[in-house]
Amino acid sequence: MTEKPPVSIFGLGYVGLTFAATLASRGFKVVGYDIDEGKLELIKRGKSPFYEPGLEELLAKAVSDGNLTVTRDPGEAVAGTDATFITVGTPEGLDGRADLTQLHSALKDLGKGLANKRSWHLVVIRSTVPPGTSRSAAKLLEEMTGKRCGVDFGLCMNPEFLREGNAVEDNLNPDRVVIGECDKRSGDFLEGFYKAFLGERLPPILRTSLENAELIKYANNAFLAMKISFINMIANLCERIPYADVEEVARGIGLDKRIGPYFLKAGLGWGGSCFPKDLKALLRVGEDVGVDLPLVRATVEVNERQPYKAVEFAERALGDLRGKRVAVLGLAFKPNTDDMRGAVSIKIVNKLVEKGAVVVVYDPKAMPNAKRIFGDKVEYAESALDAIRGADCAIFVTEWDEFKSLKLGEVAKLMKNPIIIDGRRIFDPRTIPPTVKYYAIGLGWR
Ligand code: UDX
Repeated sequence: MTEKPPVSIFGLGYVGLTFAATLASRGFKVVGYDIDEGKLELIKRGKSPFYEPGLEELLAKAVSDGNLTVTRDPGEAVAGTDATFITVGTPEGLDGRADLTQLHSALKDLGKGLANKRSWHLVVIRSTVPPGTSRSAAKLLEEMTGKRCGVDFGLCMNPEFLREGNAVEDNLNPDRVVIGECDKRSGDFLEGFYKAFLGERLPPILRTSLENAELIKYANNAFLAMKISFINMIANLCERIPYADVEEVARGIGLDKRIGPYFLKAGLGWGGSCFPKDLKALLRVGEDVGVDLPLVRATVEVNERQPYKAVEFAERALGDLRGKRVAVLGLAFKPNTDDMRGAVSIKIVNKLVEKGAVVVVYDPKAMPNAKRIFGDKVEYAESALDAIRGADCAIFVTEWDEFKSLKLGEVAKLMKNPIIIDGRRIFDPRTIPPTVKYYAIGLGWR
């Protein structure tokens, strides 16, 4: 293997494009392929089709340096590179199973290029796929090309653990690299590739079977989501206990090294493009092999109810919501992204509208996506203060930094009723001015 082998990336979404840009920034030659021509045109101009901190700077440089090119011809992408990473989406299918349509079409595109290639080529599945999928993919490629996996080409399953809003940093500083391999040569190649990419920052590398690598990804997401649902369950208990506060409880248990402080932030529930669909897919995997997964089921159940806590607080404060003006602040599923996939804000806004409230929304980045989702059901504000002005109640749904600096005393003066619902524990309860009626997740009455 050359020190930095040229690679192709099939699927230029969050995972693929941030991976492509960070590899190119480390001097790799990267060829990107996607079926969306509009996306390719943007990338060619060094522009990102979505917001992700630090990405556009990297992209612009990668394209102008010539390290990142894009093509509409998958055969050309395979011919000119030593390995192809598949990073297409595996969204939730109708029955909750992972929808593998994009993976199958990427494999077909890849297979055509592979059939014509004389030299060995490595295929790396980086998309999240149910156990058994990578082995089936190897068989499909064998049938398409007449070549043998483990001899004429290699295949690895290499899950990613990127967080949106942190994807560039996470690509460069992973906690570990998991390599599921169909044969030793494939695993050796991918290990060498990561050594060249991450250099001194190389984390532990785990070499394992294809199926274990697939399971690690699902188990990882399920465990993280379970931690959040656990603390949300404790938050709901805290609210009924005078002087209790889930933030303190989380701090206390997080100091136990066996538990750790991460993913114990109580709030209105988890959303996003991964947790919701991956937990559902994992439940389906269990069903398909006849194994009940009660902790995963409970994790999902707790999360399905959690967003409605915001509406319950509003009703507790205002009674009937009909005709009440409610400001919803923060729509993205978490800060530093414009992504609203699986965002809890969608459930909250829809429920408020259903109850007859006049809803005005604001998000620092997600307004274009919000307009596509909510249409004319809601009003759109230009700023947080604009949303709050004249409102009967303000609900904070995403913990954007710009909300943290709001002075609640000033905010209260703008509102018709100074009712603040803190769905993400943005504000310190000890500093709430007496003029504000403050409700927060996990805060007991006092
Ligand atoms: C997640 C995983 O972290 C990542 O490893 C995987 O590859 C993809 O899914 P992401 O969806 O980008 O990443 O966001 P993450 O930061 O994990 O947050 C997911 C959701 O959980 C968000 O809605 C967030 O608000 C919520 N969350 C997270 C909490 O409510 N409390 C927490 O303590 C942490």
